[in-house]
Amino acid sequence: MSTLALEGGSPVRMRPFPEWPVHDESDLRALREVLESGTWSAANGPRVRELERRFAAYHDASHAVATTSGTVSLVLALRALGVGSGDEVIVPPYTFMATASAVLEVNALPVFADISLDTYCIAPDAVEAAITPRTRAIIAVHFGGHPADMDQLGEISRRRGITLIEDAAHAHGAVWAGRKVGAIGALGCWSFQASKNLTSGEGGMITTNDSALAERCESLHDFGRSPGGPWYEHHFLSGNHRLTELQSALLLAGLERLPEQIERRERSARHLDSELGRIEGVRPLERDPRTDVHSHHLYIFRYDPEGFGGMSREAFVRALNAEGIPASSGYPVPLYRQPLFEELAFDTRATGYDPAYGPTQYGRLELPQCERACRETVWLPQNVLLGDESDLADITSAVRKVQEAARHGSGSRATSAH
Ligand SMILES: Cc1ncc(COP(=O)(O)O)c(C=O)c1O
Repeated sequence: MSTLALEGGSPVRMRPFPEWPVHDESDLRALREVLESGTWSAANGPRVRELERRFAAYHDASHAVATTSGTVSLVLALRALGVGSGDEVIVPPYTFMATASAVLEVNALPVFADISLDTYCIAPDAVEAAITPRTRAIIAVHFGGHPADMDQLGEISRRRGITLIEDAAHAHGAVWAGRKVGAIGALGCWSFQASKNLTSGEGGMITTNDSALAERCESLHDFGRSPGGPWYEHHFLSGNHRLTELQSALLLAGLERLPEQIERRERSARHLDSELGRIEGVRPLERDPRTDVHSHHLYIFRYDPEGFGGMSREAFVRALNAEGIPASSGYPVPLYRQPLFEELAFDTRATGYDPAYGPTQYGRLELPQCERACRETVWLPQNVLLGDESDLADITSAVRKVQEAARHGSGSRATSAH
C-alpha cells in the first residue's frame, strides 16, 4: 500500500492539469485589433454587437444583450420583468450567492426550493410547493452545466403564470431535449467570469426570444436609453452595464473554441463516470436522459465515508489535494444559511420581509436534499476535463489510493486533521 502524500508519500501527480483560462494567437490578434482601432467601448464598437449576434445564434435565441457580469444579467432580467418590492422569486439554495442576491437587489424576496439529488438542479415539485400568490418568477440554475428540468419547470411556469428565468452561468452550450439552454425560459442569464467555460475575465449576457424583453434589457444595460435613440435621452433608472470591445474580442475567439472543448469535457466526464462510478463510496451525479449536451462546468460526485473506512469528506478532499488533484467540497452551507440570510442583512422593509411568514423564515429552513449535497459533494473544476486519458487516470488512481489508505487505517492523520 502506498503512503498518502499527506503523510509524506509521493503524490500520484506532480504535473498541473490543463490551465484555465486558455488563449491562443487568435486572442492576441483580436485584442491587438481592438487596441489599434481606438474603439474600446461598446457604445460605438462592432465587436460587442457581433458577439451578441453570434452568442444568440449559438444558443438558439433571437436576442442577446452583453453585460458586465452574470450577477448584473440576473438583476437586469428581473428588472426587465418588473419584479420588485413585495414579489417573491423561487430559487435553489444550492448555487452561487448571485442567484439569490440578485433577487434582493431588486427588493424582491428569494424563496428557496430544494434541489434534486440526482442532478443538483431545482426540483420541480419543490418549486410547485413554494408558489404563493406573491410569486412572480422562478430562477432555475443549470447547475454544473446540467440543464434543469425545463419540461416540468416550463409546464409549471405556463400553468401558474409565473415567469421562468434560466441562470445559465454554468451552462454554455448545454442542450436540453434538443434545444440549447438560455432561451427556453423567458430570459437566460450568463456569466463570463474567469472560471466559466467561456470567459473574458468578467462579463455577462442575457438571452431571450422575446423582443419586448430584449429591448427593455438593452435599455436597462445602458442608462435607460432607447436602443438607437438619442444619446442624452433616458427612459428608465439604470446605469452603465456594458461589456467592452476588448472583452468581446476575447469572447468571440473563445466561442470558436467552445464546441471542441464541450466535446472534450463530455468525453472526459463519461470516462470518469464509468471509472469513478465503480469505486465504492463514490457516486457521480446522474444525467437526465433528456440532456443532449451537458456542459460540465463542474464534475461532481457524491462521497460516502462508508466506502472509505469512515474518512470524513473534508479529510478525503485534503488527501486528494495532496495527491495533486484539485478537488473541493463546494458550497459549505445552503444559501439560506449564509449570514446575509440568517442575519437578515438586507433591507427587510423594502423587500416586504415578514418574519411570521413561512416561506421566508430563512433561519428555520432546512431543505434536506440541499443540506445533504453540502455534506457529501466533491467538485472537480472543468479544466481537469480538458486533459487526456492519463490526466483522468490520475484522478481515479488518487481516489483509489486514498481509499486503500483510509481502509487500512492509514490516512488517520488526514481523518482527524480538521
Ligand atoms: C450559478 C451562478 N450564477 C451567477 C453567477 C454570477 O456571475 P458573475 O460572477 O459573472 O457575476 C455565478 C458565478 O459567478 C454562478 O455560478
